[in-house]
Amino acid sequence: MYGLIHNALRSMVVQEHGEPLWQLILESMEIEADVFLSMRQYDDSTTLSLIAASAQATNMEVDAFLGSFGYYWLTVFAPKDYGPLLNLTGDDPFEFLRNLNSLHERISTSFLEFRPPVFSVKYISDECIELQYNSTRKGLTSFVEGILRGLPIMFNVTMVVELMERSAVQQGEQSLFRIMKVGAQRGRS
Ligand code: HEM
Repeated sequence: MYGLIHNALRSMVVQEHGEPLWQLILESMEIEADVFLSMRQYDDSTTLSLIAASAQATNMEVDAFLGSFGYYWLTVFAPKDYGPLLNLTGDDPFEFLRNLNSLHERISTSFLEFRPPVFSVKYISDECIELQYNSTRKGLTSFVEGILRGLPIMFNVTMVVELMERSAVQQGEQSLFRIMKVGAQRGRS
């Protein structure tokens, strides 16, 4: 996975727990400090080990850690460098989710040969959608869940996010979320 993801992880761990803990995590993986270049690809095994080591060092289950990481990614890290791209993706959470594939497509000229996830949206009603997540990797559903929990902050709305199904498929993982807008202000703009 691209080093950008590692650098986002570093940023969260350092911000929440301090630089020394991050150094300990790298040492436990026998990785030299500061080796991650945002625009370079690293083996997925490095990414997943880094996530596992960070979860362990912060005394969290891997899925809970990934959830916090997804939330951090959307609410803190991505807006700093990719604010305009996020803004282009939608004015409303459901529109944003419908455009997740185009978001990743837009950056495919910078992130050559990356393997972004694929999402599909099904409307159950104006206030409720089902979002399907398809990945060529296993184990990242909770990262998506964390991002989805960050969406209400980004759009200043109230939403309920429920993970309905999660299954390993031949090469990766597939999950289904149900997302409901709650309260008065909703309705797509
Ligand atoms: C400006 C915002 C974003 C940027 C720049 C971005 C960029 C990237 C990049 C570079 C990767 C690595 C893929 C690889 O190395 O093969 C990735 C993966 C991923 N992105 Fe995004 N992304 C953004 C927003 C989002 C959002 C809003 C979601 C919503 C759920 C999302 C979900 C994911 C997931 C789940 C992965 C892991 C890959 C997988 O599932 O197999 N991203 N993204």
